[in-house]
Amino acid sequence: MSLSDFLDSLQKLQRDAQEVFATVTSQESLEAARVRFLGAKNGALKEIQKQLGRIAAEDKPQAGQRLNEIKRSLADAFQQAATLLEEPSVADGKAVAAPTLPGTPLKLGHIHPVTQTIEHLKEIMGRMGFATAEGPEVEDPWHNFVALNIPEDHPARDPLDNFYLATAKGSVGEEGSQLLRSQTSTVQIRVMEVRRPPIRIVSLGRVYRPDDPDATHFPMFHQMEGLLIDRQVTMAHLKTVLRVFATNYLGKDVSIRFRPSFFPFTEPSVEVDFWWNDQWIEFGGAGMVDPAVLTAVGYDPEQVSGFAFGLGVERLCMRRHNITDIRDLYSGDMRFLSQF
Ligand code: PHE
Repeated sequence: MSLSDFLDSLQKLQRDAQEVFATVTSQESLEAARVRFLGAKNGALKEIQKQLGRIAAEDKPQAGQRLNEIKRSLADAFQQAATLLEEPSVADGKAVAAPTLPGTPLKLGHIHPVTQTIEHLKEIMGRMGFATAEGPEVEDPWHNFVALNIPEDHPARDPLDNFYLATAKGSVGEEGSQLLRSQTSTVQIRVMEVRRPPIRIVSLGRVYRPDDPDATHFPMFHQMEGLLIDRQVTMAHLKTVLRVFATNYLGKDVSIRFRPSFFPFTEPSVEVDFWWNDQWIEFGGAGMVDPAVLTAVGYDPEQVSGFAFGLGVERLCMRRHNITDIRDLYSGDMRFLSQF
């Protein structure tokens, strides 16, 4: 056999083998190609190698060297085909991704636990006929204090206990100044100023107090304010609404307790406790709307009466989900938040 015939057949083998290895689509066809070209017994390469003995002695080194090169290139082509089969890639057109392989999931955002709680509370109160109302977070002293019967010298108006804004108009605490509302009771006033009774609303939103953050305090938190104004409203209505609310949100076996308290805008005033998981837990304040407040918004206290309550939203959320530190809700840590 002449050297050039030998080299030609090697060349042809390489072309054929590369074409076949480049188009294998399964382990079976890969293995078939391997046996066909690289098989130790009757593989095409082996067949050509057998011819080496018939090459003239002086041509042998060249023939052998070429044979080894082709052998390596076929081994590479085989390796590459095997790798492609393991990592299907549509991009390079050499393989088809397994059509049943699940895709890479997109990271979806979800609703913050406090927002989820707010939606839930609105839904429960909505079933009892309470519509939602809103008010601004930046307030004036009239809505945050004055109309709520909180006098000028009341400690609740202390600049150290409120976030007053550094606005040009009015000095701190006086007419014309502004602050971040410290309670959602502001919305009671805003609603009563523009509407006539009967009124039945809840307002859920942020309030701000300069507290140092710890497990139960945060300088920003949420309240659910409730207000019902009608003829002949009594404490019994208040207690019933709060009990129905609590059993809906926390569970059937919740009890409710009123403890005497004081708020300038309710008379009588109470602290509201729910019996839950074997203990009394305070959730907020409530009471019958003070006649001075009804008068401030232009209602006649002889004609109408009503109740109001303010509950801590985080507290409700934390109780229900067994969260022990309010700061977790606002850390932005996805490991915590993604559990809800
Ligand atoms: N605004 C009161 C507070 O923040 C709660 C409250 C609301 C009390 C309505 C009575 C009536 O503590």
